[in-house]
Amino acid sequence: MDSRGTNSVPRFKDQVALVVGAAHGIGKAIAMRLGREGADVAIADIDPDAMEITVQEMRSEGSKCQGVTCDVRDSAQVQAAVKQVIDWHGRIDILMQIAGIAPAKPFLELDEATWDDTININLRGAFLVARAVVPHMVARRKGKLVFMASTNSWDGEAQLAHYNASKSGVFLLAKTLARELGRFGINSNAVGPGPIRTRLSAPIFDDPVYQAKYHPETGVVPLGRLGTPEEVAGPALFLASEDAAYVSGVLLFVDGGQLA
Ligand SMILES: NC(=O)c1ccc[n+]([C@@H]2O[C@H](COP(=O)([O-])OP(=O)(O)OC[C@H]3O[C@@H](n4cnc5c(N)ncnc54)[C@H](O)[C@@H]3O)[C@@H](O)[C@H]2O)c1
Repeated sequence: MDSRGTNSVPRFKDQVALVVGAAHGIGKAIAMRLGREGADVAIADIDPDAMEITVQEMRSEGSKCQGVTCDVRDSAQVQAAVKQVIDWHGRIDILMQIAGIAPAKPFLELDEATWDDTININLRGAFLVARAVVPHMVARRKGKLVFMASTNSWDGEAQLAHYNASKSGVFLLAKTLARELGRFGINSNAVGPGPIRTRLSAPIFDDPVYQAKYHPETGVVPLGRLGTPEEVAGPALFLASEDAAYVSGVLLFVDGGQLA
């Protein structure tokens, strides 16, 4: 191990990673871990101020990082952001598609705007980003796609019909790309966190209904606690690593055993 706590030959040395949705939360933890493990990291996010803080934090650790503002709902912005990363580095070895929202609403109160925004960011955004990145990977016959699914890709959690539908779609998108793109040397997988304390999940975990659901002793998580963004970063990086060279089309749950 070197002074930064990583192996002396970093796992992702000389690899270019694009992490979309890395200003906050899980995406930020993934970007920081990729940087610590030697990758050249480009981050894209809708929140330029928070993204700049992430860039500066990563650089202060000695990581290589650049940021580009991008709203994944906007095809032109997505294309421009990916072009910017290609202009910087000439390639993208790893895509981490993380950006997402999860506004909780009971189905009887679910309005079209909430449905559309959730599907547009979580699912259509994943499509737009993958569509922009994949041709560059196909040209090089090489690439790792990691999509952000959820336990909610499988579990129909109440008050989150729109979110569950979006995350189920993201998982099937990842699986379909595994089928279609394997012959180009591209792995496509998804990571599926359970309850992770972040800005996104804070309102949910502050709701008494969910406090009961995730109660340490009587709740649904066998390990008896919420997870951290860093605990998702490790499994996500595994899927992008050479250790996962023969892994494609899976959804790796990171949920403290919730779906056991
Ligand atoms: N926190 C959890 O418990 C949990 C569980 C399962 C899955 N997830 C998923 O993990 C991902 C990250 O969630 P988080 O908990 O870290 O939330 P977060 O709010 O902390 O981070 C989400 C990131 O996505 C960015 N983003 C949002 N809309 C965007 C847009 N239109 N264009 C570009 N970037 C945008 C935000 O600025 C932010 O940086 C999401 O896809 C979420 O669905 C979270």
